[in-house]
Amino acid sequence: MDGQGLIVAIEGIDGAGKTTQAKRLVRFLRSKGMAAKYTAEPTSSVLGKMIKSYLRRGGVDPHLLALLFAADRIYHLKKTVNPMLEKGHIVVCDRYLYSSYAYQGVMTGQPLWVREINRMAPHPDIAVLLDISVEEALRRKKRRISFEDPDFLEQVRGEYLRLCESGLMVKIDAGGEIDAVFRELVKVVAPRLGLKHET
Ligand code: TMP
Repeated sequence: MDGQGLIVAIEGIDGAGKTTQAKRLVRFLRSKGMAAKYTAEPTSSVLGKMIKSYLRRGGVDPHLLALLFAADRIYHLKKTVNPMLEKGHIVVCDRYLYSSYAYQGVMTGQPLWVREINRMAPHPDIAVLLDISVEEALRRKKRRISFEDPDFLEQVRGEYLRLCESGLMVKIDAGGEIDAVFRELVKVVAPRLGLKHET
């Protein structure tokens, strides 16, 4: 690290355990003396609230949704992420750019357009896919899952896996116990931050 902060994105289909792992990663990094912050998309801004309300209601135009996610991301970057990066923080993002690549890519059927409308968002420095099967995701669901259609989630997972194959993300098997998944997460993230692996 050169004194500039960096973005660590935690991605995956709904139910993969992103929030638990992202928050734990922040605690771990802080315990190692690093300045780390947790943040999430969609945000709790007016735009994020609009998105969540559309998701609850369902039936919203996929292109409109894609634009809202991109707008919320600009807001998130300007208001939260960039100021943290300027302070040299490690920003652990519970969903970020590749959520749009995966979900909106599938929903709109226009992955290139989705990339285009997100061009202002920098790629994350480290991106991890917490990969679970759709079956497991649906079994785990304790609370509302925004997108429950197994076929859709299967396609989203496929998109995420393609992003891993293209080298944009690193895949972790997130089907196991929380502790085991966390150890794998640290194995991916720690060396890139100049830390040892031990959790
Ligand atoms: P959450 O459950 O992680 O808060 O996310 C809410 C939903 O928003 C989730 O089903 C995934 C979806 N989503 C997208 O479709 N595109 C995006 O860019 C983001 C950030 C989330």
